[in-house]
Amino acid sequence: MISAASRPYIVASVPVLREHGLTITRCFYQRLFAAHPELKNIFNMPNQQSGTQQQALASAIFAYAANIDNPDALAPVISRIVQKHVSLGVREEHYPIVGKHLLDAIAEILGAAATPELLAAWAEAYGLLATALITEERKQYQAHGIEPGEYRSVTVVRKQKESETVTSFYLEATDGKALPAFQPGQYISVAVNIEQLALRQLRQYSLSDAPDNGHWRISVKREEGSATADNSYPAGLVSNLLHDQYQEGDVLWVSPPCGDFVLPQDDDTPLVLISAGVGVTPMMSMLQGSLQRSPQRPVNFLYATLNGRHHPLKGELSKLSRRHGQMRSHIAYEKPADDDRLRMDYQQQGYLQLAQLPDALLPHDGSYYLCGPTSFMQIQRNALLARGVAAHQIQQEVFGPSLLQHLQ
Ligand code: HEM
Repeated sequence: MISAASRPYIVASVPVLREHGLTITRCFYQRLFAAHPELKNIFNMPNQQSGTQQQALASAIFAYAANIDNPDALAPVISRIVQKHVSLGVREEHYPIVGKHLLDAIAEILGAAATPELLAAWAEAYGLLATALITEERKQYQAHGIEPGEYRSVTVVRKQKESETVTSFYLEATDGKALPAFQPGQYISVAVNIEQLALRQLRQYSLSDAPDNGHWRISVKREEGSATADNSYPAGLVSNLLHDQYQEGDVLWVSPPCGDFVLPQDDDTPLVLISAGVGVTPMMSMLQGSLQRSPQRPVNFLYATLNGRHHPLKGELSKLSRRHGQMRSHIAYEKPADDDRLRMDYQQQGYLQLAQLPDALLPHDGSYYLCGPTSFMQIQRNALLARGVAAHQIQQEVFGPSLLQHLQ
């Protein structure tokens, strides 16, 4: 708990953070990478360039300040950060480095307003948050039986094109042992060397297959952009490399499965999975996990995409829906192609409109899981709330840094 002496300084800095939070974190990252260029191998450098991660850290700091007296509100945020950090191999010894450059950045940007008392209060607050994160991360590394930053080598045993932009990679342990089961909805970090930039990069991909069949599968969307020689970090660095250069038989280094967007074990209420675009990947795993582990539990699978050519794992979905009577699916194609029309592969044309759907698809007592672009999730969440679904029944997964808006 923050000391009585520091508390007023932290509380008073909420408006200051609102004003300068982003400038402070931008300055922080410049200082951090100048002093420790090796940390570029841990951070997502295209996100750095676009400012997404800078915003994520700014919102984390702000959220902490705003909720200094409300640990319950912070708990889900801590859990998400811990899972992400563990998948990235963040180590205890990184914390003092980050803390030093954060405080230096606060001092630089606030100038005379950064009094010794204010800086001491922030040093204390950072220390408390760092201790909470380190403690939880240590437990997670132990549970996975690995040292921080230790990756496992896996072989790509099958590479399968799933749609115009998404390709699946089936992974098996190079030592021939079965890969451990995971919780449907979790992701792994994949480590890839970008030789022309002399940089290692890590990216998180949801596991898209059933949770306990001894192999793992990631289904990777090829993002726009590719590596350039001018030392910039375009989006799509890693996904393009995976699509173009990784073939069956190649070895990848990956983290253990991480993430807290998962199905609780003991929930038997109707499960409703709503996704769009590549957000379908954790949903396919949740679907398979639920069908295997809770064969009586009803599952409704709602999915929105452009058309059949942009519908990854489409064949797998129809096979599951033919085989399992407790499952219903509802597909919305924004612009169906001629062959989609011919096969009647979809139930709704245009955007996915939840308001038009029957209660059988959207039951009042359901557990709802959303994954897709932020705007899609916001619209669907509002539509669910308007139908009387309670906020606690809805979980959602943001790909990329979450901006933690629920705390602000
Ligand atoms: C108290 C200290 C820290 C806080 C509050 C914090 C907070 C955060 C938050 C909010 C995210 C985004 C999570 C998400 O929504 O996905 C994040 C991601 C991340 N954090 Fe931390 N963090 C801290 C310390 C550290 C340290 C010591 C390191 C190691 C150098 C680190 C490395 C990263 C990386 C690499 C990411 C992923 C973003 C990317 O790939 O660029 N963090 N952190």
